[in-house]
Amino acid sequence: MLSLMKTAPLMFSFFVTLIFGTASLGQQPLKDVFANHFRIGAALNSKQFSGRDMRGADIVTTNFNTISPENVLKWESVEPVEGKFDFSEADKYVAFGQEHKMLIVGHTLVWHHQTPKWVFEGPDGKPVSKELLKERLRKHIHTVVGRYKGRIGAWDVVNEALNEDGTLRNSAWLKILGKEYISLAFQFANEADPSADLFYNDYSLENEPKRKGAIALVKWLQSQNIRVSGIGTQSHHMLDQPSIADQERTIIDFGKLGLKIAITELDVDVLPRPRDHSGDIVSVAYREGLDPYKKNLPDEMQQRLAARYADIFRVFVKHHKLIDRVTFWCVTDADSWLNGWPVQGRTNYPLLWDRSGKPKPAFFSVISTLNHRQ
Ligand code: GLA
Repeated sequence: MLSLMKTAPLMFSFFVTLIFGTASLGQQPLKDVFANHFRIGAALNSKQFSGRDMRGADIVTTNFNTISPENVLKWESVEPVEGKFDFSEADKYVAFGQEHKMLIVGHTLVWHHQTPKWVFEGPDGKPVSKELLKERLRKHIHTVVGRYKGRIGAWDVVNEALNEDGTLRNSAWLKILGKEYISLAFQFANEADPSADLFYNDYSLENEPKRKGAIALVKWLQSQNIRVSGIGTQSHHMLDQPSIADQERTIIDFGKLGLKIAITELDVDVLPRPRDHSGDIVSVAYREGLDPYKKNLPDEMQQRLAARYADIFRVFVKHHKLIDRVTFWCVTDADSWLNGWPVQGRTNYPLLWDRSGKPKPAFFSVISTLNHRQ
């Protein structure tokens, strides 16, 4: 039994290679494989859409039909100083998506991170008044969404407004404007582009209390006739969490709302999580013991990752009628934010392409979920 367990991953690898051939022979573009199921995408960094990473750009244009911006549309990027908008990078991102006829996603209008301090400060250096913050929010959303009207097809209007227990996060937005900041954001986005899809986006929605919080939030918006098009579930996963049952339940529960479901930030972290990490966006310092695969990912781990991706995609394929798009957070392992979070400076392997731009066993196992459905 033990020897079977040890050889199973290798056998899996052998059969995947046998069925799909080598990377160059058997590689099918993801967007073609899933063409009848959902759009498939990735979050891009500036190098990929401005011609400084042609290898990355080539993977993107070959495999994806939707893109998200990793950073260039966040508040601190487009309006670092009040009223001084900088669209230089965002314009290139949108032009890239238009050139390749992709669904272009806008990420994100309202968040508690990557938002400059001035947003929450009044002219006197004290906390900003309710009225002024509301006006700043209106102006920001109208300017950004208005600029790309008809070109950005879907916006993450509000990102991560919930705590793990489903209550609202006590962000500066909530403290100053109350819950209304969420409905205002959707209202302003709708005014600026009535035809764009408007999403609420968050992580760990597979956990029941948080998932219930998201459903209650969307229902609350709908009860006020606020237009919401869908829920984005980020899906920053680990090898063993969340369970496949919880992922499936999440899609089914959101499906009952009759709204679009987007998988917005998919990746699978293969490294150990430090015990002292709070779970928030801030990273802890590097420790050798937390960086076990500095040179390469051992084959056994490579196969675990491939099997995990296959399990995840089997759920997506099963419920594809409910799913609008599946977007990976970054393109190759070298690009991933998980090399720097939750521990700085590690070597992580969360995506489908390796550091040299080659598809990994996980790439082929994702494809196999469609070609070899049981
Ligand atoms: C969150 C945000 C993204 C990105 C990732 C990590 O999930 O929504 O914009 O910052 O964290 O890179």
